[in-house]
Amino acid sequence: MALARFLRSCEEISPRLLTADPDIIAPLCTDWTRRMTGKALGLVRPSNEEELAAVVGAAVEEGVQLQLQGGNTSLVAGATPLGDTVLVTSARMRAVQEPDLVSLSITAEAGATAAEVNAALAPHRLKLGVDLASRDSATIGGMVATNAGGIHVVRYGSMRAQLLGIRLVTPAQGAIGRLSPLYKDNTGPHLAAIAAGSEGTFGMVVAAALRAVPVLSESVVALMSFPSFSAVAEAVRRIRLSPAVSALEFMTASGMDLVSRHLGRTPPVAGAVYLLAEFESAFPLLDHVAAVVDDASPSTSALAFDRRGRAELWRWREAHTEAIATAGIAHKMDVSLPISRLEEFVEWVEGPFAADNPDLHIYLFGHLGDGNVHVNLVGAESDDLATDEAVLSKAAAMGGSISAEHGIGRLKAPLLHLVRTSSEIAALRALKDAFDPDGILNSGVLLPSRTGGHAISGVAPGRLA
Ligand code: MLT
Ligand code: ZN
Repeated sequence: MALARFLRSCEEISPRLLTADPDIIAPLCTDWTRRMTGKALGLVRPSNEEELAAVVGAAVEEGVQLQLQGGNTSLVAGATPLGDTVLVTSARMRAVQEPDLVSLSITAEAGATAAEVNAALAPHRLKLGVDLASRDSATIGGMVATNAGGIHVVRYGSMRAQLLGIRLVTPAQGAIGRLSPLYKDNTGPHLAAIAAGSEGTFGMVVAAALRAVPVLSESVVALMSFPSFSAVAEAVRRIRLSPAVSALEFMTASGMDLVSRHLGRTPPVAGAVYLLAEFESAFPLLDHVAAVVDDASPSTSALAFDRRGRAELWRWREAHTEAIATAGIAHKMDVSLPISRLEEFVEWVEGPFAADNPDLHIYLFGHLGDGNVHVNLVGAESDDLATDEAVLSKAAAMGGSISAEHGIGRLKAPLLHLVRTSSEIAALRALKDAFDPDGILNSGVLLPSRTGGHAISGVAPGRLA
């Protein structure tokens, strides 16, 4: 009854708001990794803030659960609907304003992709500080909600650091926040910073005002190989001291072999572990990069100065996700470690953990400059959480985090206690209650269920109840 009334309200808000077309809804019910599949009772596609606020208001009124979704690129089932949920997407809210060339900022609606925002900035030699391999699908709203990181965190910080202003629709307050591009605004805790990383549990992003950073004229990419992870760890310590470094990524031989087969070519350098470093500056870089790479002491290295050459070297890193997806459904553990303990963690994964799990294919890569390792495991059952827990517990025990940039989602919510005390979880719940007292948004995402248990336990592998 309540659902029928809610759906009727949606029809009244706008006749084109709602669809029940299974061909449109079905692809939105499986997460990007294909590990999780859920169901939705319907799909709502608001075109603006007024429609979104009216939808959220009607859901509060009728007690209908909503699942928010941007580009559906979550790797932790953070946007995958549970069976008794109505899906709300930002797909029709994708306006991008002209950049503000004085403030060096740009305002974009939640459904605009990172690539669309960059297309608006590019003619002005500007870009977003956050960039990621899923740039063509990942939306601004989802990137804010997950506090997305990506390849330039080492230089510009994550999404939280780009946020100057925000408009948000919350169940308790309706539409709140402002989009003025204020670089300084100490009028209490910053709403945009609170929304960043909340994974859509406090409200749905309408639009964000973001910093824009200059595109620097000089750019060099170096792909280096090393005989061991300890040699790489030492190189990372040295390269991070360069003021020109804008990305510092690593890959290992197992992933590079897979990418090599996927792309049908061989890498320009070979070794056990690889580093990809990008350097950017407004000043000539050649001598500087040559000195930095020399100091890093790789076994072999390839440098690229032109756009095409740089893209070719980047492909070796960015094709990892798609190459791994062709090998099977991956369990993706996105951990961060204190940089001083990276080596110890990687040695544990490749040593004792691999020995205990001989049937797993293990692929390690990530944003080493940020201490962020993506542990990808292929070969485990979709609903096997023990392997996930083993890796995440190890990272937590070493002072690391169980989510560097992908978020907690539904998948890791029961493991939040590994990195947050019960008092901290209670504080998070209090915040959730302030914005969404009836718990209608993204239930089961980020915060563990109050009744215990796991969102995917007791159901068929890979299916959300
Ligand atoms: C990446 O760094 O490529 C993304 O986080 C995606 C992934 O982890 O697969
Ligand atoms: Zn990543």
